[in-house]
Amino acid sequence: MFLSVQFTILALQLANVLAVALNPYDSLAGLTRDEVDAFARTVKVVGGQPAPAPIKDTSMKLVNDAAHPWMPLTADQQRGPCPGLNALASHGWLPRSGVATPGEIVTAVQNGFNMEYNRALLCVTYAAFLVNGNLLTNLMSIGGISRLTGPAPPAPALASGLNTHGTFEGDASLSRSDAALGDNHSFNETLFQQIIDISNKVGGGRYNVSAAAEVRFQRFQQSVAENPGFFFSTPRFNTAFIETVFPIVFFIDGRSTDPGLDLNVMRDFFQNSRMPPDFHRRGTPSGGSDEELDFVMAAHDYVPGFNNGTARDARTCSLTTSQFVNTTMELYPSPQGDLRDAINTNLDNFFIPVSTRCTQIFPFP
Ligand SMILES: *[C@@H]1O[C@H](CO)[C@@H](O)[C@H](O)[C@H]1NC(C)=O
Ligand SMILES: *[C@@H]1O[C@H](CO)[C@@H](O)[C@H](O)[C@H]1NC(C)=O
Ligand SMILES: *[C@@H]1O[C@H](CO)[C@@H](O)[C@H](O)[C@H]1NC(C)=O
Ligand SMILES: *[C@@H]1O[C@H](CO)[C@@H](O)[C@H](O)[C@H]1NC(C)=O
Ligand SMILES: *[C@@H]1O[C@H](CO)[C@@H](O)[C@H](O)[C@H]1NC(C)=O
Repeated sequence: MFLSVQFTILALQLANVLAVALNPYDSLAGLTRDEVDAFARTVKVVGGQPAPAPIKDTSMKLVNDAAHPWMPLTADQQRGPCPGLNALASHGWLPRSGVATPGEIVTAVQNGFNMEYNRALLCVTYAAFLVNGNLLTNLMSIGGISRLTGPAPPAPALASGLNTHGTFEGDASLSRSDAALGDNHSFNETLFQQIIDISNKVGGGRYNVSAAAEVRFQRFQQSVAENPGFFFSTPRFNTAFIETVFPIVFFIDGRSTDPGLDLNVMRDFFQNSRMPPDFHRRGTPSGGSDEELDFVMAAHDYVPGFNNGTARDARTCSLTTSQFVNTTMELYPSPQGDLRDAINTNLDNFFIPVSTRCTQIFPFP
């Protein structure tokens, strides 16, 4: 009898191990301690690492160079909702696999696009990593957990992961459908045609800030009308605007004085993850939140909220970080050992950028 009980336990343990046959970059959220331990035995445990220092040379320079040629996607490589990260991977500024550490992402967006090393960059990267990444291997897929990254993690990860957070991607995005309405991570031709139409109408055939403002508003109105679960509150409320000006700020060649983005260049970035030949990154670091962003936000009236009658929630910085920490705790109710250390290091990195405005919360002292 004891023997049979032991066999049953062994069988259950084996079943557990098999049930969580994860890729090294899959999130561990929702797993039991035994499952996390079983996973840890199969990989090199790296844990949380300090955020990298800013790059030193921030001049304009050739980035589609001989060392970073575009290569077509192979079956085992991941690409996701963010055209900028996709292009960095397809040009080898990030690992071509599409699986990277948060530090590699912070460095690659500076190298490839001259993105400013600032609060928003660290905050967004480490927030996305805490929710989507693998905290033991320190790896994350730029394709996100919903993409073909192996079995979906068990609840609560699905319930509270990307949908609540949408740090990189979310509802009403430019060229990807809302999750409730279709494929939310692949290039969508119908939506890209809207960008072309609007750019022809108000941008003189280019995607300039006037076009960005109208595309933003049209996608917002579409989601309000068509998506019963439309979520448009912080942090998505902020990233939704920033992502509309990113193509203007980062995809226009640094040598150009044109204030609008050529639509063929835009398509190549969005559809093929490809920089134009001889592409030079911009000549000054930018966070993408300058006058272009003000223009888009001021062009129409927006209130953060979601589709639920008249429900609205406007959140302050402290509420947002507190909510974020709470969600992290829901994903990892009682982390132990290496996992606990890694979460704490990454939470430290997440709080660096907001340290002057928000009090850091230590959920796992
Ligand atoms: C994408 O859609 C899947 C389900 O189709 C969902 O689980 C995931 O949260 C969505 N991702 C985002 C960023 O909305
Ligand atoms: C493309 O986006 C439109 C508008 O959101 C949607 O109706 C359509 O289903 C999407 N196509 C795919 C393949 O997801
Ligand atoms: C965008 O381009 C159009 C066409 O050239 C122009 O009329 C418009 O003023 C531009 N928008 C801005 C904000 O400069
Ligand atoms: C949406 O409204 C329903 C019914 O009033 C309520 O039960 C639910 O909690 C609301 N959801 C949100 C996110 O506020
Ligand atoms: C986070 O959880 C704490 C403790 O349960 C609670 O006091 C706080 O209100 C929560 N924050 C948010 C934004 O829900």
